[in-house]
Amino acid sequence: MEFIHDVVIVGSGLAGLRAALEIPVTAKVALLSKVFPTRSHSGAAQGGISAALGNEEPDSWEWHMYDTVKGGDYLTDQDAAETLARDAERAVYELEHIGAPFNRTSDGKIAQRAFGGHTRNFGEGPVKRACYASDRTGRVILDTLYGKAVEKSIQIFSEFVLIDLIVERGKVSGLVAYELATGELHTFRARAVLIATGGFGGVYKTNSNCFSNTGDGVYLSYRAGIPLEDMEFVQFHPTGIHGLGVLISEATRGEGGILRNNAGQRFMELYAPSLKDLAPRDVVSRAIWTEIREGRGVNGEDYVNLDLTHIGAERIEDKLSDISSFAKIYLGVDVTTDPIAVTPTCHYMMGGIPTDLNGRVLNRFNEPIVGLYSAGEAACVSVHGANRLGTNSLLDLVVFGRRAGKMIAEELKQLDFNNHSSNLDEVSRHRIESLLAPSHGERSFPIRNDLQTLMMDRCSVFRNEADMLKGLSGLESIKDRYKSIFIQNRNPRYNTDLTEALELECLIGLAETILKSAIARQESRGAHYREDFPNRDDKNWLKHTMIQNRSDGTEIFYKPVNISRFEPKARTY
Ligand code: FUM
Repeated sequence: MEFIHDVVIVGSGLAGLRAALEIPVTAKVALLSKVFPTRSHSGAAQGGISAALGNEEPDSWEWHMYDTVKGGDYLTDQDAAETLARDAERAVYELEHIGAPFNRTSDGKIAQRAFGGHTRNFGEGPVKRACYASDRTGRVILDTLYGKAVEKSIQIFSEFVLIDLIVERGKVSGLVAYELATGELHTFRARAVLIATGGFGGVYKTNSNCFSNTGDGVYLSYRAGIPLEDMEFVQFHPTGIHGLGVLISEATRGEGGILRNNAGQRFMELYAPSLKDLAPRDVVSRAIWTEIREGRGVNGEDYVNLDLTHIGAERIEDKLSDISSFAKIYLGVDVTTDPIAVTPTCHYMMGGIPTDLNGRVLNRFNEPIVGLYSAGEAACVSVHGANRLGTNSLLDLVVFGRRAGKMIAEELKQLDFNNHSSNLDEVSRHRIESLLAPSHGERSFPIRNDLQTLMMDRCSVFRNEADMLKGLSGLESIKDRYKSIFIQNRNPRYNTDLTEALELECLIGLAETILKSAIARQESRGAHYREDFPNRDDKNWLKHTMIQNRSDGTEIFYKPVNISRFEPKARTY
């Protein structure tokens, strides 16, 4: 079918939903989601949303901005960090007023707790800045915003997978989506398209993301000729359940949890003497891997312990109930008496589709692509720089999701349809036919598995040129294998075999952008740690990496960082 809408929003997590609420009811809006909206990955966010409310102790938006810039190892664009920190208070009270049930202080204010890298008075010590609803903060915000979208009668297309984004002559034309329930292809023509499809932790074997986080919107933008920004900056969250990657919230450490090695030692005292277990994630993940590599993993294995046994059952029940049930379900551990076995897990992508502060997608000349917007983890407004602080993600989604929605509403007054091509789905139809044509070949799962293992081994917490070059040549053979992929299931309804093959193309393409961007950056900064270039090098590398898909291969170029307030300094915690 061909649908015609004024605005199509792809992705029904917090960024997409928050944007949708800004579009006037006079516009025809479609919200596409690969899953039922309340299954979006935003719902998995556990520990909190940051805002310097000062409800538990003094705080200020300037301290929040500083922490965001320093946490991002000075690659953060400071105009974005200022926008985020200044707008945080409004954003959180807005969520409260529309019904998000935050935990409360004894005098009825929104309760707050400490999180990694958030400090008082420009780095003096931890501050309680994370507003939370137990350890299911994303869940309650997602349900609240979804309720608002339903109230607004926004037309929702659930279980529609984005398979092509059409940009012609610098202007968006629309997109093609594959309907899971029927196997049909649909085109959506639109005056404005917002890509809010989230992250792509599925590139890595150990990750905290849901299975459907395959970066479709990011990859398809790249395939459509849009450069991607800072793709080498991949965040590993320090505490994933060992062997599974399932997230154990940083809120555990915010509530007093301690990381211990084989000898029971609180090793973070050595790596971050001031913030200790509440140092930013890149610092803690490297510390954990250093302990493991140097033989101090628990029982000689590749994990350390997260000790919550001193926190007390009542506090755990009140503030960490989900993670205590995860530990029980996945490890059989009672967190009030025994530690949780943890290792770093791929959690978040700092890089993505470049945007300005209002969600407008930028081309290589930093000019907006007419009618195309992006927000949330899919986007790179570069508010997180080289390393995101915990709880800044939920805030980013609602602050920049809202700004993108407002900008769409504003620009819609002038935007018209791009009727350059009459047939938007030709390439997609051909693509599906050629995927379904072979009668034998390799199934997608082993290829996806090998890709994830390759990225884990060659380009994760510690990196070096030799490994990454091996990764790149390994990726060439994965690409070859993909050419002879075999879809065994021929049923048009809920053909996950076909869907996973489509997703795998995205994962492979994004893995390549991560590897190439990481090989090019010859320094260590934030989450990008090069064993062969262990220092930060502001003279040569204080710049954003841009990678673009061109007919003759990929091109890498750079763009400057916005430094408005805080000059780069050595980053110690
Ligand atoms: O640890 C956590 O609860 C994750 C929060 C975040 O990524 O912002």
